[in-house]
Amino acid sequence: MAEQVSIHGQWSSRLAFILAATGSAVGLGNIWKFPYIAGENGGGAFVLIYLGCIILIGIPIMMAETMIGRHARLNPVNAMKKLALESGARSSWKYLGLMGVVAGFLILSYYSVIAGWAMAYVVRTGAGIFEGATADGVASIFKGLISDPERLMGWHTLFMLITMLVVARGVKGGLEKAVRFLMPTLFVLLFVLVGYAMNTDSFDKGLMFLFNPDFSKINGAGVLTAMGHAFFTLSLGMGAIMVYGSYLPNNVSIAKTTFAIAAADTLVALLAGAAIFPIVFANGLEPGAGPGLIFQTLPIAFGQMPGGALFGTLFFVLLVFAAISSSISLIEPAVAWIMERFSISRGMASFWCGLVTWFIGLGTIASFNIGEEVKFFGLTFFDLLDYLTANIMLPLGGLLIALFAGWIMLADKSREALEMKEGFVFMAWRFLVRFIAPLAVFVVFLKAIKVL
Ligand code: PHE
Repeated sequence: MAEQVSIHGQWSSRLAFILAATGSAVGLGNIWKFPYIAGENGGGAFVLIYLGCIILIGIPIMMAETMIGRHARLNPVNAMKKLALESGARSSWKYLGLMGVVAGFLILSYYSVIAGWAMAYVVRTGAGIFEGATADGVASIFKGLISDPERLMGWHTLFMLITMLVVARGVKGGLEKAVRFLMPTLFVLLFVLVGYAMNTDSFDKGLMFLFNPDFSKINGAGVLTAMGHAFFTLSLGMGAIMVYGSYLPNNVSIAKTTFAIAAADTLVALLAGAAIFPIVFANGLEPGAGPGLIFQTLPIAFGQMPGGALFGTLFFVLLVFAAISSSISLIEPAVAWIMERFSISRGMASFWCGLVTWFIGLGTIASFNIGEEVKFFGLTFFDLLDYLTANIMLPLGGLLIALFAGWIMLADKSREALEMKEGFVFMAWRFLVRFIAPLAVFVVFLKAIKVL
Protein backbone atom coordinates (compact mmCIF):
# COMPACT_ATOMS: atom_id res chain seq x y z
CA MET A 1 0.00 0.00 0.00
CA ALA A 2 1.29 3.47 -0.83
CA GLU A 3 2.31 5.59 2.12
CA GLN A 4 -0.51 7.85 3.25
CA VAL A 5 0.20 11.54 2.72
CA SER A 6 -1.66 14.67 3.81
CA ILE A 7 -3.49 16.53 1.06
CA HIS A 8 -1.48 19.59 2.08
CA GLY A 9 1.80 17.93 1.16
CA GLN A 10 4.73 16.59 3.10
CA TRP A 11 8.15 17.70 4.37
CA SER A 12 10.95 16.73 2.05
CA SER A 13 12.98 15.08 4.81
CA ARG A 14 13.44 14.48 8.50
CA LEU A 15 15.66 17.55 8.66
CA ALA A 16 12.95 19.68 7.09
CA PHE A 17 10.54 18.68 9.84
CA ILE A 18 13.11 19.32 12.54
CA LEU A 19 13.78 22.76 11.13
CA ALA A 20 10.12 23.64 10.76
CA ALA A 21 9.17 22.37 14.21
CA THR A 22 12.18 24.10 15.74
CA GLY A 23 11.17 27.19 13.82
CA SER A 24 7.75 26.91 15.39
CA ALA A 25 9.10 26.33 18.88
CA VAL A 26 11.86 28.93 18.85
CA GLY A 27 10.35 32.37 18.69
CA LEU A 28 9.32 35.34 20.75
CA GLY A 29 8.53 32.87 23.53
CA ASN A 30 12.20 32.12 24.04
CA ILE A 31 13.76 35.51 23.56
CA TRP A 32 11.05 37.98 24.53
CA LYS A 33 8.72 36.12 26.88
CA PHE A 34 10.93 33.72 28.81
CA PRO A 35 13.27 36.40 30.21
CA TYR A 36 10.48 38.74 31.23
CA ILE A 37 8.32 36.15 32.97
CA ALA A 38 11.40 34.64 34.63
CA GLY A 39 12.21 38.15 35.81
CA GLU A 40 8.69 38.75 37.11
CA ASN A 41 8.67 35.45 38.96
CA GLY A 42 11.96 35.79 40.76
CA GLY A 43 14.32 33.81 38.50
CA GLY A 44 15.92 30.49 39.55
CA ALA A 45 12.98 28.62 41.08
CA PHE A 46 10.78 29.59 38.16
CA VAL A 47 13.43 28.44 35.67
CA LEU A 48 13.83 25.11 37.46
CA ILE A 49 10.08 24.44 37.41
CA TYR A 50 9.95 25.43 33.76
CA LEU A 51 12.76 22.96 32.95
CA GLY A 52 11.01 20.22 34.91
CA CYS A 53 7.81 20.85 32.95
CA ILE A 54 9.67 20.67 29.63
CA ILE A 55 11.06 17.24 30.48
CA LEU A 56 8.16 15.59 32.27
CA ILE A 57 5.21 17.18 30.48
CA GLY A 58 6.39 18.93 27.33
CA ILE A 59 8.48 16.23 25.67
CA PRO A 60 5.96 13.39 26.12
CA ILE A 61 3.09 15.58 24.92
CA MET A 62 5.12 16.76 21.96
CA MET A 63 5.67 13.12 21.01
CA ALA A 64 1.95 12.46 21.40
CA GLU A 65 0.97 15.41 19.22
CA THR A 66 3.41 14.53 16.45
CA MET A 67 2.29 10.92 16.56
CA ILE A 68 -1.43 11.81 16.35
CA GLY A 69 -0.79 14.15 13.44
CA ARG A 70 1.33 11.73 11.47
CA HIS A 71 -0.98 8.80 12.08
CA ALA A 72 -4.09 10.70 11.00
CA ARG A 73 -2.54 12.82 8.22
CA LEU A 74 -5.31 15.38 8.69
CA ASN A 75 -5.74 18.82 10.24
CA PRO A 76 -6.06 18.73 14.07
CA VAL A 77 -9.88 18.91 14.09
CA ASN A 78 -10.33 16.00 11.68
CA ALA A 79 -7.33 14.15 13.07
CA MET A 80 -8.86 14.02 16.54
CA LYS A 81 -12.19 12.93 15.10
CA LYS A 82 -10.69 10.23 12.91
CA LEU A 83 -8.51 8.70 15.61
CA ALA A 84 -11.31 8.91 18.18
CA LEU A 85 -13.68 6.97 15.93
CA GLU A 86 -10.90 4.54 15.07
CA SER A 87 -10.41 3.92 18.80
CA GLY A 88 -14.14 3.50 19.45
CA ALA A 89 -14.44 6.85 21.25
CA ARG A 90 -16.75 9.80 20.60
CA SER A 91 -16.26 12.08 17.65
CA SER A 92 -16.61 15.04 20.02
CA TRP A 93 -12.83 14.81 20.52
CA LYS A 94 -12.79 17.03 17.46
CA TYR A 95 -13.63 19.99 19.71
CA LEU A 96 -10.18 19.60 21.20
CA GLY A 97 -8.81 20.35 17.73
CA LEU A 98 -11.20 23.26 17.44
CA MET A 99 -10.07 24.74 20.75
CA GLY A 100 -6.55 24.64 19.34
CA VAL A 101 -7.65 26.53 16.25
CA VAL A 102 -9.18 29.23 18.45
CA ALA A 103 -6.08 29.38 20.67
CA GLY A 104 -3.96 29.84 17.54
CA PHE A 105 -5.99 32.89 16.49
CA LEU A 106 -5.82 34.43 19.93
CA ILE A 107 -2.08 33.87 20.39
CA LEU A 108 -1.18 35.10 16.93
CA SER A 109 -3.24 38.25 17.44
CA TYR A 110 -0.87 39.49 20.15
CA TYR A 111 2.22 37.67 18.91
CA SER A 112 2.03 39.76 15.76
CA VAL A 113 1.91 43.00 17.75
CA ILE A 114 5.08 42.07 19.65
CA ALA A 115 6.76 40.91 16.45
CA GLY A 116 5.87 44.39 15.18
CA TRP A 117 7.94 45.87 18.02
CA ALA A 118 10.87 43.75 16.89
CA MET A 119 10.41 45.04 13.33
CA ALA A 120 10.36 48.60 14.57
CA TYR A 121 13.61 47.87 16.39
CA VAL A 122 15.29 46.68 13.20
CA VAL A 123 14.86 50.20 11.91
CA ARG A 124 15.85 51.85 15.18
CA THR A 125 19.05 49.85 15.70
CA GLY A 126 19.89 50.18 12.00
CA ALA A 127 19.62 53.95 12.25
CA GLY A 128 22.12 53.84 15.10
CA ILE A 129 19.93 55.73 17.56
CA PHE A 130 21.00 53.51 20.45
CA GLU A 131 24.66 54.38 20.09
CA GLY A 132 25.88 55.41 23.52
CA ALA A 133 22.31 55.60 24.83
CA THR A 134 21.72 55.34 28.58
CA ALA A 135 19.24 52.96 30.19
CA ASP A 136 16.83 55.88 30.56
CA GLY A 137 17.22 56.90 26.95
CA VAL A 138 16.55 53.35 25.77
CA ALA A 139 13.49 53.11 28.04
CA SER A 140 12.01 56.31 26.70
CA ILE A 141 12.48 55.18 23.10
CA PHE A 142 10.53 52.03 23.99
CA LYS A 143 7.82 54.00 25.71
CA GLY A 144 7.58 56.26 22.66
CA LEU A 145 6.94 53.28 20.43
CA ILE A 146 4.30 51.49 22.46
CA SER A 147 2.36 54.61 23.31
CA ASP A 148 1.72 55.29 19.62
CA PRO A 149 -1.21 53.12 18.45
CA GLU A 150 -0.88 54.13 14.81
CA ARG A 151 2.71 53.10 14.58
CA LEU A 152 2.01 49.79 16.32
CA MET A 153 -0.84 49.16 13.93
CA GLY A 154 1.40 49.78 10.93
CA TRP A 155 3.94 47.18 12.10
CA HIS A 156 1.24 44.72 13.16
CA THR A 157 -0.36 45.02 9.71
CA LEU A 158 2.96 44.46 7.97
CA PHE A 159 3.76 41.42 10.09
CA MET A 160 0.34 39.86 9.46
CA LEU A 161 0.71 40.44 5.72
CA ILE A 162 4.05 38.64 5.68
CA THR A 163 2.63 35.75 7.70
CA MET A 164 -0.34 35.43 5.36
CA LEU A 165 1.91 35.42 2.29
CA VAL A 166 4.19 32.72 3.65
CA VAL A 167 1.27 30.54 4.76
CA ALA A 168 -0.44 31.02 1.41
CA ARG A 169 2.62 29.57 -0.34
CA GLY A 170 2.23 26.32 1.56
CA VAL A 171 4.27 23.82 3.43
CA LYS A 172 7.31 23.44 1.23
CA GLY A 173 7.41 26.64 -0.72
CA GLY A 174 7.64 29.10 2.12
CA LEU A 175 8.26 27.38 5.38
CA GLU A 176 11.10 25.05 4.74
CA LYS A 177 13.45 27.35 2.96
CA ALA A 178 13.33 30.18 5.42
CA VAL A 179 14.16 28.26 8.58
CA ARG A 180 17.07 26.40 7.08
CA PHE A 181 19.57 29.18 7.53
CA LEU A 182 17.84 31.41 10.04
CA MET A 183 18.03 29.12 13.02
CA PRO A 184 21.81 28.58 12.92
CA THR A 185 22.44 32.31 12.51
CA LEU A 186 20.24 33.12 15.46
CA PHE A 187 22.31 30.79 17.62
CA VAL A 188 25.52 32.53 16.61
CA LEU A 189 24.16 35.96 17.48
CA LEU A 190 22.93 34.81 20.85
CA PHE A 191 26.44 33.64 21.61
CA VAL A 192 27.75 37.08 20.66
CA LEU A 193 25.31 38.64 23.12
CA VAL A 194 26.27 36.23 25.89
CA GLY A 195 29.89 37.13 25.14
CA TYR A 196 29.04 40.77 25.69
CA ALA A 197 27.21 39.93 28.92
CA MET A 198 30.32 38.09 30.18
CA ASN A 199 32.23 41.31 29.93
CA THR A 200 29.82 43.28 32.10
CA ASP A 201 30.61 43.22 35.80
CA SER A 202 27.26 41.55 36.52
CA PHE A 203 27.57 38.28 34.64
CA ASP A 204 27.72 36.25 37.88
CA LYS A 205 24.79 38.09 39.31
CA GLY A 206 22.76 37.50 36.17
CA LEU A 207 23.50 33.79 36.18
CA MET A 208 22.76 33.52 39.90
CA PHE A 209 19.41 35.14 39.30
CA LEU A 210 18.65 32.72 36.50
CA PHE A 211 19.91 29.49 38.03
CA ASN A 212 19.95 29.80 41.79
CA PRO A 213 16.51 28.62 42.93
CA ASP A 214 14.88 30.40 45.83
CA PHE A 215 11.49 28.78 46.29
CA SER A 216 10.23 31.48 48.58
CA LYS A 217 10.03 33.71 45.52
CA ILE A 218 7.44 31.62 43.73
CA ASN A 219 3.76 30.90 44.39
CA GLY A 220 0.99 28.84 42.78
CA ALA A 221 0.38 31.44 40.11
CA GLY A 222 4.10 31.48 39.26
CA VAL A 223 4.14 27.69 38.94
CA LEU A 224 1.19 27.90 36.54
CA THR A 225 3.02 30.52 34.49
CA ALA A 226 6.12 28.29 34.34
CA MET A 227 4.07 25.30 33.22
CA GLY A 228 2.04 27.35 30.75
CA HIS A 229 5.25 28.65 29.30
CA ALA A 230 6.57 25.12 28.77
CA PHE A 231 3.55 24.55 26.51
CA PHE A 232 3.87 27.93 24.85
CA THR A 233 7.55 27.66 24.08
CA LEU A 234 7.27 24.15 22.63
CA SER A 235 4.16 25.18 20.63
CA LEU A 236 2.08 22.51 22.38
CA GLY A 237 -1.57 22.08 23.21
CA MET A 238 -3.08 23.82 20.21
CA GLY A 239 -2.34 21.61 17.21
CA ALA A 240 0.68 23.40 15.70
CA ILE A 241 2.98 20.44 16.25
CA MET A 242 0.12 18.08 15.38
CA VAL A 243 -0.40 19.71 12.00
CA TYR A 244 3.36 19.69 11.35
CA GLY A 245 3.37 16.02 12.35
CA SER A 246 0.76 15.37 9.69
CA TYR A 247 3.32 16.40 7.08
CA LEU A 248 6.05 14.18 8.58
CA PRO A 249 7.19 11.21 6.49
CA ASN A 250 6.99 7.75 8.03
CA ASN A 251 10.21 6.07 9.15
CA VAL A 252 11.32 9.10 11.11
CA SER A 253 11.90 8.57 14.83
CA ILE A 254 9.48 10.83 16.66
CA ALA A 255 11.26 10.36 19.98
CA LYS A 256 14.67 11.43 18.72
CA THR A 257 13.43 14.40 16.75
CA THR A 258 11.33 15.59 19.69
CA PHE A 259 14.34 15.52 22.02
CA ALA A 260 16.40 17.49 19.54
CA ILE A 261 13.70 20.13 19.13
CA ALA A 262 13.07 20.52 22.84
CA ALA A 263 16.80 20.75 23.54
CA ALA A 264 17.35 23.44 20.92
CA ASP A 265 14.37 25.40 22.18
CA THR A 266 15.53 25.28 25.78
CA LEU A 267 19.06 26.26 24.86
CA VAL A 268 17.86 29.36 23.04
CA ALA A 269 15.77 30.46 26.03
CA LEU A 270 18.62 29.94 28.49
CA LEU A 271 21.08 31.78 26.23
CA ALA A 272 18.66 34.68 25.96
CA GLY A 273 18.36 34.76 29.76
CA ALA A 274 22.14 34.57 30.18
CA ALA A 275 22.51 37.54 27.82
CA ILE A 276 19.77 39.69 29.28
CA PHE A 277 20.03 39.46 33.07
CA PRO A 278 23.67 40.54 33.35
CA ILE A 279 22.72 43.63 31.32
CA VAL A 280 19.73 44.19 33.62
CA PHE A 281 21.91 44.17 36.73
CA ALA A 282 24.87 45.99 35.23
CA ASN A 283 22.56 48.91 34.46
CA GLY A 284 20.58 48.87 37.69
CA LEU A 285 17.37 47.85 35.91
CA GLU A 286 14.42 45.88 37.23
CA PRO A 287 14.27 42.17 36.27
CA GLY A 288 10.49 42.38 36.62
CA ALA A 289 10.12 45.18 34.07
CA GLY A 290 7.56 43.17 32.09
CA PRO A 291 7.00 42.77 28.35
CA GLY A 292 9.41 45.57 27.47
CA LEU A 293 12.38 43.83 29.13
CA ILE A 294 14.40 42.83 26.06
CA PHE A 295 13.57 46.07 24.28
CA GLN A 296 14.93 48.02 27.22
CA THR A 297 18.05 45.95 27.88
CA LEU A 298 19.55 44.62 24.65
CA PRO A 299 19.71 48.04 22.95
CA ILE A 300 21.99 49.20 25.78
CA ALA A 301 24.39 46.41 24.86
CA PHE A 302 24.13 47.19 21.17
CA GLY A 303 24.74 50.85 21.92
CA GLN A 304 28.00 50.04 23.68
CA MET A 305 29.64 47.16 21.85
CA PRO A 306 31.79 47.74 18.79
CA GLY A 307 29.77 47.08 15.65
CA GLY A 308 26.65 47.26 17.79
CA ALA A 309 24.45 48.87 15.16
CA LEU A 310 25.21 46.02 12.77
CA PHE A 311 24.83 43.24 15.36
CA GLY A 312 21.71 44.88 16.72
CA THR A 313 20.06 45.15 13.34
CA LEU A 314 20.95 41.57 12.54
CA PHE A 315 19.63 40.42 15.91
CA PHE A 316 16.24 42.04 15.48
CA VAL A 317 16.01 40.82 11.89
CA LEU A 318 16.56 37.29 13.14
CA LEU A 319 14.06 37.78 15.93
CA VAL A 320 11.50 38.83 13.35
CA PHE A 321 12.27 35.72 11.30
CA ALA A 322 12.03 33.52 14.37
CA ALA A 323 8.65 35.12 15.01
CA ILE A 324 7.51 34.48 11.43
CA SER A 325 8.45 30.81 11.59
CA SER A 326 6.37 30.55 14.78
CA SER A 327 3.44 32.60 13.57
CA ILE A 328 2.94 30.48 10.47
CA SER A 329 2.58 27.46 12.74
CA LEU A 330 0.07 29.32 14.90
CA ILE A 331 -2.24 29.81 11.94
CA GLU A 332 -1.52 26.61 9.98
CA PRO A 333 -4.00 24.44 11.96
CA ALA A 334 -6.76 26.95 11.21
CA VAL A 335 -5.81 27.28 7.56
CA ALA A 336 -5.60 23.51 7.02
CA TRP A 337 -8.94 23.02 8.76
CA ILE A 338 -10.76 25.83 6.95
CA MET A 339 -9.46 24.63 3.57
CA GLU A 340 -10.87 21.18 4.20
CA ARG A 341 -14.04 22.28 5.93
CA PHE A 342 -15.16 24.94 3.45
CA SER A 343 -13.37 23.62 0.36
CA ILE A 344 -11.58 26.89 -0.32
CA SER A 345 -8.06 27.51 -1.59
CA ARG A 346 -5.02 27.92 0.66
CA GLY A 347 -4.76 31.54 -0.42
CA MET A 348 -8.33 32.36 0.58
CA ALA A 349 -8.06 30.48 3.86
CA SER A 350 -4.86 32.37 4.73
CA PHE A 351 -6.49 35.66 3.88
CA TRP A 352 -9.54 35.17 6.10
CA CYS A 353 -7.56 33.79 9.00
CA GLY A 354 -5.14 36.68 8.73
CA LEU A 355 -7.91 39.24 8.64
CA VAL A 356 -9.62 37.90 11.77
CA THR A 357 -6.31 37.73 13.62
CA TRP A 358 -5.36 41.23 12.55
CA PHE A 359 -8.64 42.54 13.90
CA ILE A 360 -8.26 40.89 17.32
CA GLY A 361 -4.73 42.29 17.44
CA LEU A 362 -6.10 45.82 17.58
CA GLY A 363 -7.21 45.09 21.15
CA THR A 364 -3.65 44.28 22.16
CA ILE A 365 -2.32 47.42 20.52
CA ALA A 366 -4.80 49.54 22.47
CA SER A 367 -3.90 47.83 25.74
CA PHE A 368 -0.46 49.49 25.65
CA ASN A 369 -1.80 53.00 25.17
CA ILE A 370 -5.35 54.32 24.68
CA GLY A 371 -6.93 51.23 26.28
CA GLU A 372 -4.41 50.88 29.11
CA GLU A 373 -7.10 51.49 31.70
CA VAL A 374 -9.62 49.06 30.26
CA LYS A 375 -9.41 46.01 32.52
CA PHE A 376 -10.99 42.57 32.39
CA PHE A 377 -10.69 40.73 35.73
CA GLY A 378 -8.02 43.29 36.56
CA LEU A 379 -5.99 42.53 33.42
CA THR A 380 -5.41 44.53 30.27
CA PHE A 381 -6.63 42.99 27.02
CA PHE A 382 -3.10 41.81 26.21
CA ASP A 383 -2.55 40.29 29.65
CA LEU A 384 -5.96 38.64 29.51
CA LEU A 385 -5.26 37.00 26.13
CA ASP A 386 -1.84 35.89 27.29
CA TYR A 387 -3.25 34.41 30.51
CA LEU A 388 -6.18 32.74 28.81
CA THR A 389 -4.07 31.11 26.09
CA ALA A 390 -0.73 30.28 27.73
CA ASN A 391 -1.99 29.51 31.23
CA ILE A 392 -5.34 27.90 30.49
CA MET A 393 -6.00 26.84 26.88
CA LEU A 394 -2.60 25.33 26.06
CA PRO A 395 -2.20 23.32 29.27
CA LEU A 396 -5.83 22.17 29.01
CA GLY A 397 -5.31 21.20 25.38
CA GLY A 398 -2.11 19.38 26.32
CA LEU A 399 -3.82 17.59 29.20
CA LEU A 400 -6.53 16.28 26.87
CA ILE A 401 -4.00 15.28 24.20
CA ALA A 402 -2.07 13.32 26.83
CA LEU A 403 -5.24 11.61 28.01
CA PHE A 404 -6.20 10.81 24.44
CA ALA A 405 -2.80 9.35 23.55
CA GLY A 406 -2.51 7.47 26.83
CA TRP A 407 -6.02 6.26 27.54
CA ILE A 408 -8.10 6.38 24.36
CA MET A 409 -5.57 5.03 21.88
CA LEU A 410 -4.62 1.44 22.46
CA ALA A 411 -1.03 0.82 23.53
CA ASP A 412 -0.17 -1.11 20.39
CA LYS A 413 -1.71 1.47 18.14
CA SER A 414 0.25 4.33 19.67
CA ARG A 415 3.44 2.29 19.64
CA GLU A 416 3.00 1.53 15.95
CA ALA A 417 2.20 5.17 15.21
CA LEU A 418 5.33 6.26 17.06
CA GLU A 419 7.24 3.54 15.21
CA MET A 420 8.81 2.41 18.45
CA LYS A 421 9.86 -0.97 19.70
CA GLU A 422 8.49 -2.36 22.88
CA GLY A 423 10.97 -1.36 25.53
CA PHE A 424 11.96 1.16 28.11
CA VAL A 425 11.55 4.35 26.08
CA PHE A 426 8.06 3.45 24.97
CA MET A 427 7.04 2.35 28.48
CA ALA A 428 8.42 5.57 29.94
CA TRP A 429 6.57 7.67 27.37
CA ARG A 430 3.31 5.86 28.00
CA PHE A 431 3.65 6.20 31.74
CA LEU A 432 4.32 9.92 31.39
CA VAL A 433 1.33 10.61 29.12
CA ARG A 434 -1.02 8.38 31.10
CA PHE A 435 -0.19 9.52 34.59
CA ILE A 436 2.48 12.12 35.16
CA ALA A 437 1.64 14.77 32.56
CA PRO A 438 -2.14 14.86 33.15
CA LEU A 439 -1.73 14.75 36.91
CA ALA A 440 0.88 17.49 36.91
CA VAL A 441 -1.27 19.81 34.82
CA PHE A 442 -4.27 19.08 37.03
CA VAL A 443 -2.41 19.73 40.27
CA VAL A 444 -0.89 22.95 38.99
CA PHE A 445 -4.37 24.15 37.93
CA LEU A 446 -5.73 23.38 41.39
CA LYS A 447 -2.81 25.08 43.08
CA ALA A 448 -3.25 28.16 40.94
CA ILE A 449 -6.89 28.45 41.96
CA LYS A 450 -5.70 27.71 45.52
CA VAL A 451 -7.72 24.55 46.15
CA LEU A 452 -4.64 22.66 47.24
N1 PHE B 1 6.55 28.46 20.50
C1 PHE B 1 6.41 29.77 20.02
C2 PHE B 1 7.39 30.69 20.74
O1 PHE B 1 8.02 30.30 21.66
C3 PHE B 1 5.00 30.30 20.16
C4 PHE B 1 3.96 29.33 19.69
C5 PHE B 1 3.01 28.87 20.60
C6 PHE B 1 3.95 28.85 18.39
C7 PHE B 1 2.05 27.95 20.21
C8 PHE B 1 2.99 27.94 17.99
C9 PHE B 1 2.06 27.48 18.90
O2 PHE B 1 7.53 31.83 20.41
